[in-house]
Amino acid sequence: MQHSRRAVLGMTGAAITSAAVPGSAVASTGRRRRRPITLDVLSDIQGSVDDFDTALGELSRLGPVDHMVINGDITNQGLESEYLNVRRTLDGHPHPPVTYSIGNREFFNPDGDPALIERFKKHTGMPGVYAGFDVDGVPVLHLGTTVGTYDSGHYVILGAEQLSWLERNLRDHAADEPVLVFSHHVLPDTVSGTFSNPVTSAPEEYRQDYMEAEQLMGLLSRHPNVVLFTSHTHWLLQRSDWIGRRSAPGGHRAGFCTVNTGAIGSSWQPDGQGSETRLTDKDTSALRVRVLGNRVRVESRDFRRREVIRVVDVPMFGDYQPVELATYGW
Ligand SMILES: [Fe+2]
Repeated sequence: MQHSRRAVLGMTGAAITSAAVPGSAVASTGRRRRRPITLDVLSDIQGSVDDFDTALGELSRLGPVDHMVINGDITNQGLESEYLNVRRTLDGHPHPPVTYSIGNREFFNPDGDPALIERFKKHTGMPGVYAGFDVDGVPVLHLGTTVGTYDSGHYVILGAEQLSWLERNLRDHAADEPVLVFSHHVLPDTVSGTFSNPVTSAPEEYRQDYMEAEQLMGLLSRHPNVVLFTSHTHWLLQRSDWIGRRSAPGGHRAGFCTVNTGAIGSSWQPDGQGSETRLTDKDTSALRVRVLGNRVRVESRDFRRREVIRVVDVPMFGDYQPVELATYGW
C-alpha cells in the first residue's frame, strides 16, 4: 500500500483546513467512527535515514496503518537533499499517507524563513506550517512555528491566527471524541525533559520553547479529549514521565494528555546535574497509536532492541487518566 504525496489530501478525506484557508475548520464528521484507526508517529530523523529505514521496515512488518505523522526535525539543516533522502527512504517501504510538523531543524539554514517554509511545503505536501486533517473521522491537527529564528528566545511563535484556528477546531469535537494534536516542541511540565527538577529532569531551555505557552496550555486544557504529541528532546521513551496529563487554570479538571514521541536519531537523557547528555546514537524509537472509539492506545516501540516499551490506554471519559496495559522488557 504505497501512496504518492498527491494522495495525502485525497486519502485523508474532504475535511481539510490549513493556514491557507483561514476561517475554516476541520469539520466534525457528524458520525461515530465505525472502525479503529491506526497511525504511526515518528520524529527527529535529523539525517539518520538509516535509522528511519530500520523503523519503517519494523513498522511495516507490524501491518498496514491508516496514516503516518512525522513530527518535525525531518531534516538536520533544512536542505533540499535531506528532504529528498527522507522521501526516497519513505518510498522504499509500503506506507500510508503522511503528514508533517515543522521542527527547528527545518530552519537550521541561512536561506531564511520564507524560503525554508516553502521548501517544507514543497517536500511534504503540507499546505502551511499548521494544518488539520480528517483521518476517517479522527482529527489530526499539526501546529508549527511561523518564525524560524530564535531571535525571540523561543523556538515557536504560533501567532493569533493559528491559536484562533486551533480554538475553532477543538470546539468542534465532543469531550469523548479524541483529537490528536502534533507539535514538534515541548510544553513546560508535560513530558520527559520539561520538568524543573534539576537532577532528574531538564535543562531550562525545554521550558521555554513556546512564546505563547500559557495561551496554548490554557486552550488545550479546556479539552480533555486532546492528546498532544511532542518531540524534540530525544529523551528515552523508557522513562516513566513519557506520558501524562497537564492542566491549566480555567481548564477541565483532567487537563489534556501529553505524549513524548521518542526519536529516530540519537537518544538523550538527564546528566543528573541539571543538564542532559547524549546516551547513544543507536536508539531508535517511535509510536504506533490506535484510536479505538473513545480511547487512544499508545504503544511505544524500541527498534534497536525490537521491543514494545509500553502500551497505554488514554480514555476519553471518567477521570481521563492513562492506564498502563503492558510494560515489556524494562
Ligand atoms: Fe528539534
